[in-house]
Amino acid sequence: MLQTLSSTTPPVIESGNQTKTRARVSRDDRNTAGHPFVDKPRMSCRDVNVYYGDKKAINSVSIDIAENEVLAMIGPSGCGKSTFLRCLNRMNDTIAICRVDGTIKLDDQDIYDKKIDVVPLRAQVGMVFQKPNPFPKSIYENVAYGPRIHGLADAKTELDAIVERSLIKAGLWDEVKDRLDQPGTGLSGGQQQRLCIARAIAVGPEVILMDEPCSALDPIATATIEELISELKLQYTIVIVTHNMQQAARVSQRTAYFHLGDLLEVGQTDKLFTRPSHQLTEDYITGRFG
Ligand SMILES: Nc1ncnc2c1ncn2[C@@H]1O[C@H](COP(=O)(O)OP(=O)(O)OP(=O)(O)O)[C@@H](O)[C@H]1O
Ligand SMILES: [Mg+2]
Repeated sequence: MLQTLSSTTPPVIESGNQTKTRARVSRDDRNTAGHPFVDKPRMSCRDVNVYYGDKKAINSVSIDIAENEVLAMIGPSGCGKSTFLRCLNRMNDTIAICRVDGTIKLDDQDIYDKKIDVVPLRAQVGMVFQKPNPFPKSIYENVAYGPRIHGLADAKTELDAIVERSLIKAGLWDEVKDRLDQPGTGLSGGQQQRLCIARAIAVGPEVILMDEPCSALDPIATATIEELISELKLQYTIVIVTHNMQQAARVSQRTAYFHLGDLLEVGQTDKLFTRPSHQLTEDYITGRFG
């Protein structure tokens, strides 16, 4: 069951014509408030800066991502959420003018080490995009492609088993098991997004990055994906960018608030939405900014 919103709805802080200010950190403070670090991080990021040419898009961000948590990233458009998310599996490498410095580790491995091959890295840290993007191939091939190129199955029966397992985990098996040979692009938007999740799962990821995965979906397909995220976190670590604060409240355990390239606050989701520490977090979640 999805968590109801009643306990996590952003606070009503207007009282008559007066605004009660609860946040302690002033608007001018650009340090990260709250609790960006955890005991046993799955991923750890320290002093991460990202530049597009001369323009700095991410400013000295440090944060840990815990094992089996859903971390939501929120903030106004252009604040750097997608840019930072793409740092976590080196997807920014594909943008010629983009430069990343600082340290990002997956367990103890520096993912920006020269020795790292980005192909297996992007299987370990998979990504699901805003717009579902199945390959122009069959449903079966969409899921089988990754395991095949990564050499995860020796025999056809093994590959069949991976495809079935991944589609079951993505909550799509029952809807597609009788038409695996039909094109992935023929599915509905919500089904396509679950197919893309199955494709990410098929190569055995540790972390799954999701950049606004529901923004192109209707409320029913969105609810299906949100329920899926809650199940997937038992096995995977998930980082989700969302503009929907109610979605962040429903699916995540911790939330990170970005603002103009700065990470201004990280905390337990219910705390961040009811008692934010930073004045700018409060402005955003109460609709006064962004
Ligand atoms: N490929 C790129 N080339 C140049 N600048 C870029 C590129 N991608 C992003 N930027 C810039 O980096 C900053 C952060 O952009 P980013 O897309 O990460 O923001 P965002 O928080 O994901 O926004 P949105 O909520 O609209 O998706 C913006 O100023 C944007 O213009
Ligand atoms: Mg974005």
